[in-house]
This record gives sequence, C-alpha cells and structure tokens, in this order.
Amino acid sequence: MISGAASLQELHQAEIALLGRKAPVSGIQKTLGTLPEENRRLVGQAVNQVFEAFRAALARRDAALRAEADRAIAESERIDVTLPGRRPDPGALHPLTQTEREIVDVFSSLGYRVREGPELETDWYNFEALNMPPDHPARTLQATVYPDVPGRPDLLLRTQTSPVQIRTMEREPPPIYIVVPGRCFRRDTPDPTHSPIFHQVEILAVDEALSLADMKGTLEEFSRAMFGQGQRVRLRPSFFPFVEPGAEVDVSCFVCGGSGCRVCGNGWIEIMGAGMVHPAVFEAVGIDPERYSGFAAGMGVERIAMLRHGIPDIRLLFEGDARFLSQFIRGTG
Ligand code: PHE
Repeated sequence: MISGAASLQELHQAEIALLGRKAPVSGIQKTLGTLPEENRRLVGQAVNQVFEAFRAALARRDAALRAEADRAIAESERIDVTLPGRRPDPGALHPLTQTEREIVDVFSSLGYRVREGPELETDWYNFEALNMPPDHPARTLQATVYPDVPGRPDLLLRTQTSPVQIRTMEREPPPIYIVVPGRCFRRDTPDPTHSPIFHQVEILAVDEALSLADMKGTLEEFSRAMFGQGQRVRLRPSFFPFVEPGAEVDVSCFVCGGSGCRVCGNGWIEIMGAGMVHPAVFEAVGIDPERYSGFAAGMGVERIAMLRHGIPDIRLLFEGDARFLSQFIRGTG
C-alpha cells in the first residue's frame, strides 16, 4: 500500500488507512483498556511498534516521491549551457546609407570635407548661379517640384546637389575640396529606374592650376577605392551648363571586368557627370577664374547601390520591406 503509492496524494490516503482512527491497528489500540493488566503492556508495545513501522515506511516513501518530483522539475528546466545564445536582432544601415557613406569616405580619405545644403532651395542656387538662366533649356530636363509658398515663387526642391557648390564657394575661399551628400527631388513618375526622391553625392575642387588630368586622376582614385583595383575610367564629352568641358564618366564594368555583360552591355558603366567649373559659375560667386580653376562631379547613390548589389528596381530602395532590407545587414559600417 505504501510502496504502491504513486503520488503524495495516494500516500496520504495510505497514511489515513494505516494510522487513522478507522485503521485496524487503531481498533486494537482502543481495546487495550479492556485487556487484563499483564497483556495490556505487551499488546500496547506491539501496537506502537506497528505504528512506528508504518510511520517510518510512510516517511521513506514520502521522501522518495518528493525526490522523484524534484528530478522531474530539474529535467524539464534543464539548461544546456553549451547552446549558442540568442542574439538580439542587430538592425543595420539602409543600403543607400551604406553606399552613400562609402562614397563619402573615399573622398574624405582624399582630403575632401563634407558639406551639406538645404533641400528646399532657391532658383538662384539650384539654377541661375549654376549658369542656367530662366529660359535655359536644361531646366526643363530637370522636372522641378515647386512647393506652393505664397510670395516665394523662387523656392523649389533642389533637383541636384550642385547648389551646395555655390553655397560653399560664397562662404569659403579657395582652396576648396568638398564632398556633398544629399537628397534630391524631381517630378518623375516612379519606374524601375526613376524615383521622385533620390540621392546624389557631389564633389567640388577649386584651387590654383587644377586641370582635367587632376579630375580624371581623382575619379580614377575614387573608382578603384569604390569598385576595386584595376578599375579604368573613361570620360565621354557631355553637356552640363555649369561645367566646361563637361563629361559623362564611365568606369570599367565591375561585374564582368570590362568584357561586356548583361549589366554593362559594352564593358563600361556610366556612373556620374563631371567637368571643369564654368567661368560663369566662378563669376557668380566672386572667384577669379583667371587665378583659380576647378572640377566638379555628381553621382547618383541609388544607381551605384543598384549596380553593386544587382538591385533590379529602384523602388525597392524606398519601400522599407524588411525582407529586402535584411539582405544588407552587415555590421553598422
Ligand atoms: N548635377 C548634375 C546632375 O544632376 C551632375 C553633375 C554634377 C554634372 C557636377 C557635372 C558636375 O545631373
């Protein structure tokens, strides 16, 4: 009865049955008074021995059952200290931020200082001082967003980071070596390669005797730091009102190495516009174009991020879908 008790509950039943008021031994105990003197002591001792034996057996079974329960709890709560810990989700910088910082870091390491400017600009900084007078055809190429601010028809959302060239040259005397990251806006309908909000990084160098060779060397240096040693850079004549001569800058394809593939077509990838600062721009900010020369370049951060990571649609960069973004988790760099 005792050793068969499978739980403390059953053991308690056994205790009542063996030691309780209705237990057989208790029955005997109650009759002690009726026994003759000489038997009473012997039977009383025997009854006590039986009670003692029951109590001892009950205590042993009780201890055994409790130990068993403790083992079960210990087993269920067992901790494997050799298991790896649970890491908290690290979070990460957006791929655009990563790319922008890498671009800026390359120019910083070449001695360029970071400058920023406002996203809400004036016509003067975004166009006029950049050699784009009101009727200039290049303006219509940059579908501009004009916010409706009463009395301020000159306000616009900057279509490029180039206005920061003007703001810096107004305030700081040459030599100037600056790198300008920033958000830009154009009235474009979103499609796989267009977003009305996008990012550029601009550079501007103004010093005595800067030449096109300095510009090309700087862009080669950038291209190698950004896309790998062995990179080549190609300039193709192009037009931007605020530079002369102006160029589209191609780098050798970092996917195929320059032999031609689906990404580049002919081995070259266009990554920025560039050129020598136009004398009219220097005049707008009061820098003597006889004494100083300079070069500027501007690149699209989205385009470079897309090329590097094989991202097929610019809109993925703005949707905030964690399944997309989690592919770019790697440190906080
Ligand atoms: N601002 C030009 C653009 O947005 C790029 C550019 C910058 C070209 C500097 C030449 C020099 O298209």
